[in-house]
Parts: sequence; C-alpha cells; structure tokens
Amino acid sequence: MKVKFTDLYKLIRNKKTIFNKINGLIKNSKFVGGEEITNFEKNFSNFVGSRYCVALGNGTDALEIAIQSLNIKKGSEVILPVNTWISTAEAVITNGLKIVFCDINLNDYSICLDDLKKKINKKTKLIMPVHLYGNPSDLPKIKKIVQKKKISIIEDCAQAHGAKIYNKHVGTFGDVGTFSFFPGKNIGAFGDAGALITNSKKIYNFAIRARNHGAQYKYDHKFSGRNSRLDTIQAAILNIKLKTYNKVIKKRNKLAKIYLKNLSEIKEIGLFKLKKNNTYAFHQFVIITKKRDQLRSFLKKREIDTMIHYPYMLNELKFFPKTKNLKKSKKLGQKILSLPISEEHTEEQIYFITKKIKEFFKY
Ligand SMILES: Cc1ncc(COP(=O)(O)O)c(C=O)c1O
Repeated sequence: MKVKFTDLYKLIRNKKTIFNKINGLIKNSKFVGGEEITNFEKNFSNFVGSRYCVALGNGTDALEIAIQSLNIKKGSEVILPVNTWISTAEAVITNGLKIVFCDINLNDYSICLDDLKKKINKKTKLIMPVHLYGNPSDLPKIKKIVQKKKISIIEDCAQAHGAKIYNKHVGTFGDVGTFSFFPGKNIGAFGDAGALITNSKKIYNFAIRARNHGAQYKYDHKFSGRNSRLDTIQAAILNIKLKTYNKVIKKRNKLAKIYLKNLSEIKEIGLFKLKKNNTYAFHQFVIITKKRDQLRSFLKKREIDTMIHYPYMLNELKFFPKTKNLKKSKKLGQKILSLPISEEHTEEQIYFITKKIKEFFKY
C-alpha cells in the first residue's frame, strides 16, 4: 500500500465551490481587500474566540508584526523553544531583540517550564510559546510564571488551528496569537497566508496599519509599515475551508489515536502523551527513536513517505545563539520522525503504517 505524506490537491474538499468562488472574484476584479477579507477576520475571530483578527500575508509577517506591536526596547531578551520553524526566531532578530532558546518537553514538544523559569531575568520582555504539531503548550502555567512581571506573551499557533486548553483556543491566552495558512497547514490557502488574533484594541489598531504601509484608509499613513495584506482570493478560500474545519480536526485526531494505541507497546519509540484538558489539532504525528534513519528507509522501501520536523534544533544553526545545556532537545533533530497524518489518509493506511513499524522493531 502506497502512503504519500500529503496530497495537497486531495485536501481540497469543496473544489467546485472554491473554483466557482475564485472565478467570480476574477470576473469582478476583486483581488485586494474587500468583503472576503473582513468576513475572514470575523469568521476566524469567531472560530478562535478573540476580539480581533488581522488577516496578513503569511505567518512569518504575523510574528514580526505581533512583536513590533508590543514596542519592546531594542536588545531585550525573548525566550522561545529551540524546536520550532525558523520563523519564530527570525521575527525576534528582525525586531532587533535577543533570542534566548529554551529546552522542550519530549512528551508533547512544548516549551519546558523548568528551563523557562531558569531563563527569565530582568532583560526578558517576551516569551513565545509554540503550539508545535498541533499540541498546546501549557499557557495557564506560563501565565502564572510571568504573573506580575512585565513580560508579554506571543503564542505561535501556526500549526495549531483548533487546539484548545480547557476549551479556550490557543492564541487567546497571551497578548497576541499568530497563525499561518500556508498550503500544507491544517487550514491551508492556495499560497501564502497568515493572521494574528488579539483582544487588545491597541495591538489591533497597530497591526491593521502595519500590514498596509501604516495606513488604514487610502493615503492615511500614520507610520512607515509594509505590505502584508492577505489576498482576497486566499481569504475567500479560507472562508470556505473554515466552515468544514472541525471535521478535519476530528479526523486527524482520530488517526493520531490509532497511532498512539498501536505503537504504544514499542519500547524503542517515544510517543506523545495526551493531556486530559487539551483539545488537540494534530498537524504532525511525530515519534522519537534512535533508529530514526533506519526506520525511515525501511518505510520508504515499503512506499510509506515520512518527513522530519525539523532535522536541526535552531541553536545548531550557525547564525543563531549557540545555547548549551538544552538537555532534552539535544540532537533531537536526528531522532524525530513525522508519520503521515491528514484528513485524507484512511484508517487502513494508518493501521498499515503501524504494522510496518512493528515489523521493523520486531513486535
Ligand atoms: C511554527 C511555525 N511558525 C511560523 C511559521 C511561518 O508561517 P509562514 O510560512 O506562513 O510564514 C510556520 C510555518 O511553517 C510554522 O510552522
């Protein structure tokens, strides 16, 4: 049985509706701004339960603008997990701030709170937890840690649309939540797309201008911004996809449970440990094994695609700070493996993959 990692075309559920919508927008020359954007912002803030949403060009811009909106003194320290997509760290650098990498937990890849506590000092002005792979980081505890300290929180939710803690959507705990709708994400556009959410009017007012050359209305520039507008066509696609997104989460989580149940007996594999109060939105299903490369080629020979998110920890990249004593994440990039998971994979495919993994480990 052949199992692709993802098939983006197959993931487009409502093809006819989407293609008709795109046709209509093109015929009416609706390319930038307009109703689709404001509708998307309303729909997405309803979906996550935030007061405001600002549609943006991509998730990296969302992070950059989120940090910019906080007006943090240059050179201040920002703590972020060492296992994340490069954008989280890049946004710190582009804002003239200092990266402090934090270790992660191996049972859910969230930021390690013991290490976080050690790294907070007077220069710390921002913490950026990442809800990696669709697993919530422990925001209630992080908020307790920063209580009474002047430290802001930006949640990177690029991989966690629909993930919740005690039924509250990730991204709504901190000052700002940022999202990506890159085509491979759980809700993906037909190109780059992103957004930020916030309950702060001040942050909203800044972001709405920052994305459009400092202007809210034509020629009403209040500061020097950039162009990070979400395209109308992308917003229209996201509006359609959002309507059925809960089904997507349900299916992904169901497949994750099959993996968890069927791989649990394999002692050589480290698996996610789910927490009762969390709602997951599995974006990747990641396992840890010392025999990662051998397992990967074993599966490849049996036509099962896998990926690695990510093959390096960010402190291993030359241009980022070489943080030592990140014990849990040390060399993690050589041990993690992402198994196929999407709403278009069948249960049979997932059972087949677990069977092959058991065969590899001789179970
Ligand atoms: C954790 C994380 N943060 C930020 C981003 C950046 O999003 P984008 O690719 O839309 O700029 C991504 C996308 O891959 C991501 O996975």
